[in-house]
Amino acid sequence: MKFIFININAGVVNIKVLVVGGGAREHAICDIIKKSNNIDLYSVMSNINPGIEALSKEYLFEKETEIDRIGEYVINKKIDLVLIGPESPLEAGLANKLLSNGVLVCAPTKEAARIETDKEWMRNILKKYNIEGQLQFECFKDIDKAKNYIEDLNGQVVIKPIGLTGGKGVRVSGDHFNTIDEGIDYIDKIINKKIGGKSKVLIEEKAIGEEFTLQAFSDGISIIPLPLVQDHKRLLPGDNGPNTGGMGSYSLSNGLLPFISKSIYEESAAILQKIIESLYQEKCKFIGPIYGQFMLTNEGPKIIEINARFGDPEAMNVLPLLSTDYIDLCNAMLDETLSTKKIKIKKKSTVCKYVVPEGYGTKSMTGEKIMLNIEDIINSGSKLYYASVNKKNDHIYTTSSRSLALVGISNSLSSAEMMCEDGLKFIESEHIYIRHDIGTTELMQMKMDKIKNLNII
Ligand code: AMP
Ligand code: GLY
Repeated sequence: MKFIFININAGVVNIKVLVVGGGAREHAICDIIKKSNNIDLYSVMSNINPGIEALSKEYLFEKETEIDRIGEYVINKKIDLVLIGPESPLEAGLANKLLSNGVLVCAPTKEAARIETDKEWMRNILKKYNIEGQLQFECFKDIDKAKNYIEDLNGQVVIKPIGLTGGKGVRVSGDHFNTIDEGIDYIDKIINKKIGGKSKVLIEEKAIGEEFTLQAFSDGISIIPLPLVQDHKRLLPGDNGPNTGGMGSYSLSNGLLPFISKSIYEESAAILQKIIESLYQEKCKFIGPIYGQFMLTNEGPKIIEINARFGDPEAMNVLPLLSTDYIDLCNAMLDETLSTKKIKIKKKSTVCKYVVPEGYGTKSMTGEKIMLNIEDIINSGSKLYYASVNKKNDHIYTTSSRSLALVGISNSLSSAEMMCEDGLKFIESEHIYIRHDIGTTELMQMKMDKIKNLNII
C-alpha cells in the first residue's frame, strides 16, 4: 500500500510532526526536522529536555509507553506524522495504535520491532533466512541444559535476557563473569526473576573483535545505509569498566572506520538489507531507521544486535551530517520510494562525548547543577544535545541518566575531537564525568593494535 503524503511545497498549512522521546537522540531528530520548511514540532517527553522544549511548539509531559494518552494527544492536535526515538514505545505498540487511527508513523510496528525486542526471534529470523554474520545460540528454560551448552562452547559465551533491559542485561564471559558457575548464577536470576520479561535465557557464542554500528533508513523493501559509527559502551577510558548506554562515539568523513574497509561496509549493509527483506516475508514490514550492531571478527562481521531505531549516541554523529530534507526522507520511507532517492551527507568526521553524572553506571549523583555557557559552546563550533536533565529556574540538573552530549564536526577525526573538547570547556559541574579519550589518536591506536593482534586485519 502506498501512503499519500502532504505536498510540502504547497506551503499553505504547516506540517505537524510529533517526536516521541526526551533524550539527546530525539533532540538531534527534532533539530533535523526543524530544518524542513513549514514544520510545527510537537513532542512527548518524560523529562523536560530543554533543547526539545525550545524547538517544540508544544509538548506532552508523559511516559513514552503511555500509548493511549499519546494516541489521544496526536488525534487532538491533528498531528500529520509521528517519529519514535526510543525502543520502549515501539514495544508497547505506539506505532500500531497510531496507524490504526490513520496517523502516519515513520517507525516500525510492534511486530517489526521484535527484531530488537525479542532476541530469540531475531536469532531465529537470521537462521530461517540464512543471513550471513550469525553466531551460534540456544535458548533455555532449564538451568542444567544451559550449563551443558556453556560447557560445549568452552565457556566462551554471552548470556542475554530475551527482552529489553535498557542495555544492562548482557553478561560477557571474561568481562562480566569468569567461571561457568558465575554464569549459571546469572542464568538462574534471569529465569527465576524473569529479567527481560521471560523465564528464559539466550546463550550465544562470544564474538571476538571490534564493534561498529551501521544505521540505515528502511521503507520496508530497501535500505539506504548511513556512515558507520563506533560507540563506546564501556564507562572507563581504554574501553574498561561496566557497560553503559554509550559514553560517546565517532565517525569518519569517508563513512568508514579505521578498521572497516568498503567491502566490509557493503557486506554489513547487505545483511541489513536481507533482514528487511525477511521481515517483509514474515509480514512485518519494517519502516523507519534500523540499526545494526556488528563485531568485526577474523571471520568477517558478526551480528551482535539489531535495533528498531536510531542508536544513541550514534544518531548524533549521523543526523547533523544529513543535507537531504528529512520530511522528504520520511515520505520516501512511507511510500516505498527510498530506492529512487539519493541522500546527501556532508563528508565530515564527528566526535560525540557524553557528559554523565558522577557515579553513572553504578550510582549516579542526581540533582547536581550543571553550568553551561551556551554562547561559548556555539562559538566553539560544537553542537549541544541535551539528554536526561531536569530544568528548574533556568538551570539544569543531573538525573540518574546521561545528561548531555557535545558533538564536534570537522574535516578530520582529530579536529572534530578538538572541537568537541573545546566545547566541553564551557560545561561545568563538580559532579560530572566524561570519557575524554573518545576519538583521540591514542585510543584509535589502541583499537588498531588490538585488531592486528587478533589477526583480524
Ligand atoms: P547488546 O545489549 O546485545 O548490544 O549487548 C551489549 C554489549 O555486549 C555489546 O555491545 C557487546 O559489547 C557485548 N556483546 C553482546 N553480544 C555479544 C557477543 N555475542 N559476543 C561478544 N560480545 C557481545
Ligand atoms: N548505542 C547503543 C544503542 O543505542 O542501543
